[in-house]
Amino acid sequence: MSNYHIKHLEEYYQVYRKSVREPENFWEEVAGEHFLWRKKWNNVLSWDFSKPEIKWFEGAQLNITENCIDRHLTTRADQTAILFEPNDPSEKAEHITYKQLYHRVNKMANVLKSKGVQKGDRVCIYVPMIPELAIAVLACARIGAVHSVVFAGFSSTALATRINDCDCKMVITSDGSYRGAKTIDLKGIVDDALESCPGVETVLVAKRINNEVTMKDGRDEWLEPLLEQASDECPAEIMKAEDPLFILYTSGSTGQPKGMVHTTAGYMVYTAYTFKNVFQYRDGDVYWCTADIGWITGHSYIVYGPLCNGATTVMFEGVPSYPDFGRFWEIVQKHQVNQFYTAPTAIRALAKQGSELVEKYDLSSLKVLGSVGEPINEEAWHWYNDNVGKKNSPIVDTWWQTETGGIMITPIPYVTPTKPTYATLPFIGIQPALMDENAEELKGNQVEGRLCIKFPWPSMARTIWGNHQRYKDTYFSAFENKYFTGDGALRDEVGYYRITGRVDDVIIVSGHNLGTAPIEDAINEHPAVSESAIVGFPHDVKGNALYGYVILKDTGETRNHDNLRKEINQIITEHIGPIAKLDKIQFTQGLPKTRSGKIMRRILRKIAHKDTSNLGDISTLLNPEVVQDIMDNAL
Ligand code: WTA
Repeated sequence: MSNYHIKHLEEYYQVYRKSVREPENFWEEVAGEHFLWRKKWNNVLSWDFSKPEIKWFEGAQLNITENCIDRHLTTRADQTAILFEPNDPSEKAEHITYKQLYHRVNKMANVLKSKGVQKGDRVCIYVPMIPELAIAVLACARIGAVHSVVFAGFSSTALATRINDCDCKMVITSDGSYRGAKTIDLKGIVDDALESCPGVETVLVAKRINNEVTMKDGRDEWLEPLLEQASDECPAEIMKAEDPLFILYTSGSTGQPKGMVHTTAGYMVYTAYTFKNVFQYRDGDVYWCTADIGWITGHSYIVYGPLCNGATTVMFEGVPSYPDFGRFWEIVQKHQVNQFYTAPTAIRALAKQGSELVEKYDLSSLKVLGSVGEPINEEAWHWYNDNVGKKNSPIVDTWWQTETGGIMITPIPYVTPTKPTYATLPFIGIQPALMDENAEELKGNQVEGRLCIKFPWPSMARTIWGNHQRYKDTYFSAFENKYFTGDGALRDEVGYYRITGRVDDVIIVSGHNLGTAPIEDAINEHPAVSESAIVGFPHDVKGNALYGYVILKDTGETRNHDNLRKEINQIITEHIGPIAKLDKIQFTQGLPKTRSGKIMRRILRKIAHKDTSNLGDISTLLNPEVVQDIMDNAL
């Protein structure tokens, strides 16, 4: 079917129009011609954003791993599926073929089953970027268990919250992880977390760094001996289209992280279709996404999307700076990478090192460059385009979210003319809308507003685990009959979109979404702290960094502020993880509040941005006098 692989702009518009005019026919064709179904659907789509309830391909039966692995065995059994590049460049890369992946996933699936994991059970995967991570994800999908991958940089408290929220009965982890020159004791973190997770029955531990770990009798087991004994054939569980495939936590502006639930058929169809088009993947290409599988980018565009297309997908264990800042380029040259997908924060960190390290390597294999996670600033865009792409590889600035499951607004390389800092046009099937302050849709071009989506797409999250009301309140209540993204955007004179950033209290630091509330809660646990407020401020590498305003309790004692700052960051590290540490902490007597007691973050944000020329009307505040004091002592 020609629609599966868009080749020029006219075709894009033609297919886009069809996908909007007849969405059901369109997605039925894509789904019907490119996937393996045990049974086809009775109904392509039913939806009601007021409930909200969204169902795609109802009545269909399938297993996503048969699509990602089994069906490729006849044509590409010996092709590399996963190309594992270790942290240490002197350790050999591992090429896992589709056939080997099939056997390894089936073995893992049998191990899970032997430990009592059944269809519908939740399994927490807290594993670094080693092959076992992808294999564990696929093994869960094979037997219909719902995986909940937790990024292996999160703290024990954050891990425990996520394990308990969805009642995981098993945790898969490793003895530790490599991160550049450092090692991290992951098993120790799991042990700490499990002190408050009574529901976990089994912990399976992969060996990676040969760390000394304590194994709790009756609960913990080494994975390798179990895998050795397990059969390498495990029949795929037949799943319904709307059976949950995984839960992935993302930060909200308030409260606990939200366990976004993605289901099987729609997620598969959309991630596979977007992967093919957004990266213009051709047979034989080597594709590399530098994200961690602990984030949605890794789920959709390291594991499911690429494997569904029979691609070769690189999994990199290390960091861009080890052994030096040339590592990414060394890997591109070594594996002749064709599509390279990374985050603006990484691009900025690399750009800071100058172009020498890029020029040292042959990057001529590159055909497509991708960016994701936050707005890419103009300087970083040009550096990427000029030095990495040599002005020959289009940059796809892909806008999407954990909640959307797949890429939503993006250029299609060699099809859509790019424009720096613009995510450009909606992907096929996506109907964006910009809304004004009065919840009216802004029609026409050259408008700016809140970004919503008007019509369902197959890979949208269906609910928040255990809290459907919160799903409705967060995404479907601000604007009637529309999915609200939480982002602001503008549409230029030709209809290109530029994402301007979050309009809520989520701050994106180095591409990671951080809600202010959980960080403030953590800070407030410090015995000396009475209240706190967090805002973001611009940072040349991280995009945003965190600025905390902290009120100390009046105990009469004087405390050393530098020590307090260290202690506060220590608490944040324990509760959330090092990514949420504050760059600046200002101790203050008060926080500006409205008469109803709400902290005026707008003012704090301006002060942190050193933009105090126009603070707006502060006379209506409960305590306008604190504003001057905060400004005088700003960091
Ligand atoms: C932001 C990551 C501008 C945005 C896939 C969104 C972006 C949030 C872009 C979701 C982009 C992601 N341009 N902003 N290309 N991509 N964002 O859930 O604010 O980790 O709402 O999903 O990142 O982050 P998440």
